[in-house]
Amino acid sequence: MATTLKLFVTFEGPEGSGKTTQIERLAAVLRAGGMTVLTTREPGGTRIGNAIRKLVLDRAHTEMSPRAETLLFSAARAQIVDEVIRPALARGEVVLCDRYADSTLAYQGFGHGQSLEALRQLGGYTTGDLVPDLTIYLDIDVQTGLARKRAGDAKEWNRMEEKTLAYHEAVRAGYLELAAAEPSRWLVVDATAPVDQVHAQILARVQLALGQHRPA
Ligand code: TYD
Repeated sequence: MATTLKLFVTFEGPEGSGKTTQIERLAAVLRAGGMTVLTTREPGGTRIGNAIRKLVLDRAHTEMSPRAETLLFSAARAQIVDEVIRPALARGEVVLCDRYADSTLAYQGFGHGQSLEALRQLGGYTTGDLVPDLTIYLDIDVQTGLARKRAGDAKEWNRMEEKTLAYHEAVRAGYLELAAAEPSRWLVVDATAPVDQVHAQILARVQLALGQHRPA
């Protein structure tokens, strides 16, 4: 029988940081260890979230205002929290989510220069104050990350990736600032290291968190 051990882990990073690969690797190891693991992503992960994803990431929507963009990402998040994440945690599962509220602080806050205070308030409302137990930040130089992404599936290229290099640099600097401000929640990993090495660092930190969460 699968072990239930509630833990909410989010993955953050600039474009091309390899989050998907690392989430799959981690989920496989945890499942092999008998845990029930739910993996999901933002924006998306629900029918409503996927509809919003199409709207917000469409490269044709060049006129989208930063506030509209923020609210769309937030609406998708509210839906996934209510429909998927909270129920899974209530069942005692491990939830691994590709992007979460910190993406909004990094991209819409640091990237677009919108008020972080306003975004934090909105974030509390959006998530009902659900904060991850652990956030893995896969750090990569912006040019390297965008080049990796560009070398991948052309269909994956979205409206956010079209933004300037300076925008993406601000996003990365924002992430590093967020991580430095809350070191007990964030693990910063060098995403340019070999995949196995990145995985080992993530697994070690997750196992530590699972140990801390184990019922007495
Ligand atoms: P996606 O194709 O899922 O990219 P990635 O593999 O890098 O996660 O696209 C999601 C894009 O949306 C990505 O460029 C980051 C951006 N984003 C925001 O700007 N704000 C948000 O709150 C979220 C969740 C994503």
